Amino acid sequence: MWDQLFVKARLATCAGNAPYGAIENAALGIEDGRIVWLGPLGEVPGPVGSLAKQVTSLDGRWITPGLIDCHTHLVHGGDRAREFELRLEGASYEEIARAGGGIRSTVAATRAAAEEDLYATAEKRLQALLQEGVTTMEIKSGYGLELEAELKQLRVARRLGEVHPVTVRTTFLGAHALPPEFEGDAEAYIDAVVEMLPRVAESDLADAVDAFCEGIGFTPEQTARVFQAARDNGLPVKLHADQLSDLGGAALAARFGALSADHLEYTSEAGVAAMAAAGTVAVLLPGAFYVLKETKLPPVAALRRHGVPIALATDSNPGSAPVTSLLLMLNMGCTLFGLTPEEALAGVTRNAARALGLAESHGTLEVGKAADLCVWDIESPAELAYRIGFNPLHRAIKAGVSR
Ligand code: NIG
Ligand code: FE
Repeated sequence: MWDQLFVKARLATCAGNAPYGAIENAALGIEDGRIVWLGPLGEVPGPVGSLAKQVTSLDGRWITPGLIDCHTHLVHGGDRAREFELRLEGASYEEIARAGGGIRSTVAATRAAAEEDLYATAEKRLQALLQEGVTTMEIKSGYGLELEAELKQLRVARRLGEVHPVTVRTTFLGAHALPPEFEGDAEAYIDAVVEMLPRVAESDLADAVDAFCEGIGFTPEQTARVFQAARDNGLPVKLHADQLSDLGGAALAARFGALSADHLEYTSEAGVAAMAAAGTVAVLLPGAFYVLKETKLPPVAALRRHGVPIALATDSNPGSAPVTSLLLMLNMGCTLFGLTPEEALAGVTRNAARALGLAESHGTLEVGKAADLCVWDIESPAELAYRIGFNPLHRAIKAGVSR
């Protein structure tokens, strides 16, 4: 007997060829936290009442895969509301960063914060994501920029995933910014990051390695050194690439078989082609684009032409994206970047799973995958991207259990 059978549901499986992978008048069975059966209600293998311990009618509601936020900096100290004011007075993100504000001010706050306080503030932001149906997410370090402070962030990230019904994948972002004690010597700091890597791998606190390849971040050569060290320590990579300028970040990420290259506003067609060949996912971050009032759009047409999977994420961070709504990113992905609502939904389910290396187990409604589901009070899946500031989540289910 299955644990649970949902009937009278409409499924957006995000798999197969039909739009949204939709199956109308459907049923979905769950056992031991996994999907064991799904299809048209008329085809369930036996009398409904005898198939599962619990049978629940969803009265025509839609089920999608649980939402996946594949790029966040959720764990950090302090806030940057003052920087928001400065930007409105005319200062640019880069000017603030070069003047020692920006990421560095969050580094000071994160280093100073007690682990408990980092946990408590991140937990509030996590709650907001959970309330909209996020069942899996990524959390980066990158505001410690020294081994102990980076590990502190990663421990908090892991603990969030242990305490709450959400799968957390962690990413070591040691090469996020130059810490003040290395001012003027980025090479020496990259040496330090390379030295941190075996310790990070040993700690088992990081599932991947990321870097910020940018004029205000690190050069492609420095990034490549970090990636080589990641590879030597058996960790997959991803990259903040081509956000403010084209340094060839996408192609560099592809060269190292990156899970994803993220931002990508300035990525060239050659970079897109390299990503396609490597199977690297494009993670678009419309919240940062919006907050920084960017005008250069990511190359969506080229990504489509080359068949690069597109994901969407909040980039939740205190500077460029103080965002805790993944549904809003669906809307912005459509309105700002021209994605279709179907592409936007795939971007926070199937393709987001792939960006985290979880394509085998998460991201679609398919037999054998985790029973991570969202049940929505909507008439069509396009509504998830269409409404702004409205949360139609009826309930989220994590590994077969209602949250
Ligand atoms: O993804 N681009 C670099 N990192 C973050 C911003 C972090 C911050 O401003 O604190 C991003 O946009
Ligand atoms: Fe980011």
